[in-house]
Amino acid sequence: MARGVFITLEGADGCGKSTQAELLEKALVARGHEVVRLREPGGTPISEKIRALLLDPANDEMVAECELLLYEASRAQLTRQVIEPALDRGAVVLCDRYYDSTYAYQAGGRGLDDALVRRANQLGSCGCAPDLTLVLDLDASVGYARATSGGADRMEAEGLAFQERVRAAYLRLAAEEPSRVRVVDALGEKDEVTARLLEEIGDRL
Ligand SMILES: Nc1ncnc2c1ncn2[C@@H]1O[C@H](COP(=O)(O)OP(=O)(O)OP(=O)(O)O)[C@@H](O)[C@H]1O
Ligand SMILES: [Mg+2]
Repeated sequence: MARGVFITLEGADGCGKSTQAELLEKALVARGHEVVRLREPGGTPISEKIRALLLDPANDEMVAECELLLYEASRAQLTRQVIEPALDRGAVVLCDRYYDSTYAYQAGGRGLDDALVRRANQLGSCGCAPDLTLVLDLDASVGYARATSGGADRMEAEGLAFQERVRAAYLRLAAEEPSRVRVVDALGEKDEVTARLLEEIGDRL
């Protein structure tokens, strides 16, 4: 059995990752693929508990290093418990955020040391790198308005300038690793965006 394909969806708050993860799953299942759809942080009982800690607005004393390590802890559990076994049996793993989010938010947004965040990502991902990363790119103010229409969580409460740093970090990653990290325009109807993503996936499956 050939190894499966690991695809991650990335982008700043409200760009449409979760919406597109669901639409992409439907499209790929219709083509006969086994799809395992996940979201980070989360996806295992332990990782979901860590997610609740990270997103709780009451945890406003959390320091940046604690936050980084919690994301990595959640990721390591998800990778070993769910992602690697799914890839081993040939599935398509579709993950709503993965380590590029940690780079964009903790290094880009929070300003933690770039090299340190990359090392932490190696540990948290257990060396399991995505085959393809689709960055949904949107003007930060449009994404921010989409994301906060129902109230802001702890990360979203950081504001617009933070989201702009996050977007810039994603664009740097795409410039650095152009064959893995593909930037897709997230403006337009949901179905139009899905079609753009499927085009990027192309014959990689
Ligand atoms: N193409 C689109 N056009 C307009 N609105 C959209 C589009 N895609 C998603 N939305 C809406 O924008 C909001 C945010 O979308 P979604 O939750 O998919 O984004 P997200 O990237 O997962 O956000 P977060 O980073 O907060 O998890 C939702 O209300 C969703 O219905
Ligand atoms: Mg989401």
